[in-house]
Order: sequence, then C-alpha cells, then structure tokens
Amino acid sequence: MHTRANGSSTTPAIGLGCMCLSHAYGTPPPPEQASAVLLKALDLGYTHLDTAALYGFGANERLLGETLKGRRHEYFLATKGGMFGLDGKRVIDGRPETVRRNLEDSLRHLRTDVIDLYYLHRWDKQVPIEDSVGEVSRMVSEGKVRTIGLCEVSAPTIRKAHAVHPIAALQTEYSLWTRNAEVAALAACRELNITFVAFSPLGRGFLTGELRDVSALPPKDIRLAMPRFQGDNFEQNLRLLDGLAAIARESGCTMGQTALAWLLAQGPHILPIPGTTRLDHLEENLRAQDVQLTPAAIARLNVLINPNTVSGARYSAAVQAEIDTEEIGDL
Ligand SMILES: NC(=O)c1ccc[n+]([C@@H]2O[C@H](COP(=O)([O-])OP(=O)(O)OC[C@H]3O[C@@H](n4cnc5c(N)ncnc54)[C@H](OP(=O)(O)O)[C@@H]3O)[C@@H](O)[C@H]2O)c1
Repeated sequence: MHTRANGSSTTPAIGLGCMCLSHAYGTPPPPEQASAVLLKALDLGYTHLDTAALYGFGANERLLGETLKGRRHEYFLATKGGMFGLDGKRVIDGRPETVRRNLEDSLRHLRTDVIDLYYLHRWDKQVPIEDSVGEVSRMVSEGKVRTIGLCEVSAPTIRKAHAVHPIAALQTEYSLWTRNAEVAALAACRELNITFVAFSPLGRGFLTGELRDVSALPPKDIRLAMPRFQGDNFEQNLRLLDGLAAIARESGCTMGQTALAWLLAQGPHILPIPGTTRLDHLEENLRAQDVQLTPAAIARLNVLINPNTVSGARYSAAVQAEIDTEEIGDL
C-alpha cells in the first residue's frame, strides 16, 4: 500500500469518497450493496473514508455509522458540515451555532465521539471564515474534532482560515478535466503544508469512458445540471475519450486508473478520493496507486485534456456563485 500524509495522519494514496452510496448520481444503491462496498473497502485496505452531513441529508453518515459500528479504529474519518439538508432543500449555513449543531448530529449519525478531519463543506459568504473556523477550532479543543479542513475555497480564504487554526486539508475538485486548483490552491497548500484532497477525481465518471450517453442517466442525477455534461459540450467532450483510452492502453491500465495516476503524479500532497457503488471499481481504483505513468504519457494527457480542450463549465451559474475557488475561464 502506498501511503501519503493526510494532515497529521497517514493514509493510503487513494481514499474512498462515499457520496454516491447515498446521493448525487440518480437512485442510490440498495443499503445492502452500499454496506458491502464499505466493508469490502476496509478489507481491501482503504482507510480514508470521506462523507458529509449533506450526502443523503444524513443518510450517508448513518450508513457508515451503522455498517462500520465497532470498527471505528480501523479508518480515518472525514466528514463535513456547514451545508446540509433542511426541509428537503440544500442549505449553506456557516454560523458557529449551526456548524456546532451539524457536528453533534454527525457524531451521532457516525456513532463516534471524534471526527479525524472535519471540513466546512462550503464557506458561507455571509459569515467571516474566521468565525466558522473559530468554532471548529473550539471543537478541536473539546476533543470532538482532530483536524480541520475547508472545501472549494480560494488561496486568500485558506490563508485567512489558517491564521485562526492550522488547516490540515483542502478538498476541491481536481482532475484531468478540472484544473482550477492549478491557479493558486495547489501551490498555497504546498506552501502551508496542507493536504490537497482531490474530489471527483474521475470527472464524476466521465474520465473512465463508461459514461457516453447522458440520456440514459436517471432524472435526479446531478450531472444533468452540469454544463459540461449537456448538449454540444458533452458531444465535444466525448471526443477526448479515444485519446485517453489509447494512453491508458499503452500504460497497461484502465482509463480511470490513468486519471487517478495522473493526479497522484501532480504532487505528493494530493490525495484523490474516487467514489463508486461497485465492488470491482473499488478494487480497480485502489490499484491505481501502483500505476506509474511515464513523463511522456503525462505530457500527452496534458495536451489532450486541459482547459482549452474541455467544453463547458463544471457547475451551473447558481452553484458556481456558492463557491470561492479561483477559476480558469469557465472551467
Ligand atoms: N467537497 C465537495 O464539495 C465534494 C463534491 C463532490 C464530491 N465530493 C467527494 O468526492 C468523492 C468522489 O467524487 P464523485 O463521486 O463526485 O466523482 P468521481 O469519483 O470522479 O466519480 C464517481 C463516478 O464514477 C464511477 N466510477 C467510479 N469508479 C469507476 C471505475 N473504476 N470505472 C468506471 N466508473 C467508475 C462511479 O460509478 P459506479 O458507481 O458505477 O462505479 C460514479 O458514477 C465523493 O464521494 C465525495 O466524497 C466532494
């Protein structure tokens, strides 16, 4: 197992994003399948599990708590607050009292008394980041949280938060087709010794080559609202996949493994957290840590898939307005 620093801990180079077991990509799998994925993940050697209060509006945390009860010491637990479900709607609220209530709910749902890494899922722009992080730092003092993380924030916001309490991890979308972190966030993390947790590292499935027909997606799949999965953008993006398949073939691995190995090659402080509902994909994704892409393969990937060759924004304008990251053009 290849390991990397994860804040002050060490975890395998590939973590497990648990979101799609309860949320996001159409109808979630039945509970027995979701539990089987979690149990198999621990058996295979995953130890970094990433969840959030938002996912399934508490269902994902409850799934982890129930399935893995009695095994808490076997995994590094990351969860998130400050964005959650209320009356059937997604709410961003970073007020200290709300973040505290989120944490208490998460501890109960996850059947634990301490979270290894507690993220603010979004910076609530109505609340100074110092106030939200300040509250989480009090939870650290109380022993309920070990380390603090932020999601989808810019380098200046990271620095402001870091001045209040050391930030252990930044979780932001990063993959071959989403390069915004290259503007400033990756460098800020490197400088401040912050682990960069790359979410949606498989491009929400696109980079695996298995998603070629968006009309087959179920109506509630959140990808349908994302510009790069729509209409002409998606048709243009599909043209990138033949080249990616060729590089994967020559590298002796799958397209998804190529995408994950590319990420691992971008810096030793990067931890991708692919998500899956399938046991075979779980194993395939973990084994990406063994793939060594040649410098020539990495250079070809960068020419093939980059902000100039990908069509469409990653988020709708409404969702884009909620985040704080530096963006490259509309990518
Ligand atoms: N902080 C944030 O704002 C934020 C936002 C989004 C996600 N996240 C975190 O990041 C994690 C991962 O992101 P994600 O789930 O959005 O995207 P992802 O990991 O890029 O892609 C997941 C999709 O890829 C498919 N897939 C996974 N492995 C595959 C393989 N080997 N071959 C073919 N298809 C494969 C999955 O379908 P199958 O089920 O069929 O495998 C799923 O539809 C989430 O679980 C969550 O923890 C955080």
